[in-house]
Amino acid sequence: MPQHSPPKFTDGGGYEKMMGRWSQVAGQLFLDFLAPARGLHWLDVGCGNGAFTELLFSQAGAAKVTGIDPSDGLIETARVRLQAHDTDLIVGDAQSLPFADQQFDAAVMALVINFLPDPPKAVSEMVRVVRPGGTLSSYIWDIEGGGFTMEPIRVALSGLGIEAPVTGPDKARRDYMEQVWESFGLEEISSTRMDVPLIYADFEDFWSSSTGIPNSVANVVKSLSESDQSRLKEGLRETLATGPDGTVSYTAAINATQGRVPNSP
Ligand SMILES: C[S@@+](CC[C@H](N)C(=O)[O-])C[C@H]1O[C@@H](n2cnc3c(N)ncnc32)[C@H](O)[C@@H]1O
Repeated sequence: MPQHSPPKFTDGGGYEKMMGRWSQVAGQLFLDFLAPARGLHWLDVGCGNGAFTELLFSQAGAAKVTGIDPSDGLIETARVRLQAHDTDLIVGDAQSLPFADQQFDAAVMALVINFLPDPPKAVSEMVRVVRPGGTLSSYIWDIEGGGFTMEPIRVALSGLGIEAPVTGPDKARRDYMEQVWESFGLEEISSTRMDVPLIYADFEDFWSSSTGIPNSVANVVKSLSESDQSRLKEGLRETLATGPDGTVSYTAAINATQGRVPNSP
């Protein structure tokens, strides 16, 4: 079995098929939960190819979004995708934000916290750059609770006696995020778990998008022999729910947390 290491996403188009579209489905539910004011200047930490960033404009009525991500390939895709909007999109690290204190109304991490070596460091940086009274929020697949988008493949692999680890499951827990938010004195902390329906055009859409670009589960699938890969694939074809129109669907889930930066330190 290959060594597990956090995936480094570089292909904006492949990322969109595998994850970006589901980030938008989850992101809509997450923004309903946040119910933010319109006209804010947001910091989108780990903005990737701009999938969630786009929703900050279309659903949350953002005035401006500053996005930061270590992948120059994804930032480039985000620049093209968001060219009609007021953005600053830069390459950088959540744990060392190159911004002045208190310059944003809100900071958010969408599907990022489990990839960070040191989430408390990133949260302390987000607290520093958000103005008093501003918000700090995060959502992430509920990996331990079976809510990851690739859970059906993980379950099928497990049936063959093969484990497919996902990066940082403990950092995706609601109680973990709440505890980190509390440790930095954030107020009005609330969190929730939400079901996220995933609907693929057909089985091939499910299979090719899930395994088409390197990610923690696809890397395990690709390490199998061709015959084991086909056995896995055909088993999933039989077990996943398929609609009369050929669509394949199942339910993922996110954990979401938000809090407010105190008005007086
Ligand atoms: C699953 S993607 C989420 C992207 C985007 N927020 C979305 O919702 O589609 C995870 C992102 O976290 C980024 N990331 C990984 N390590 C990071 C770090 N240290 N600081 C900021 N972002 C990071 C990755 O480059 C990737 O774009």
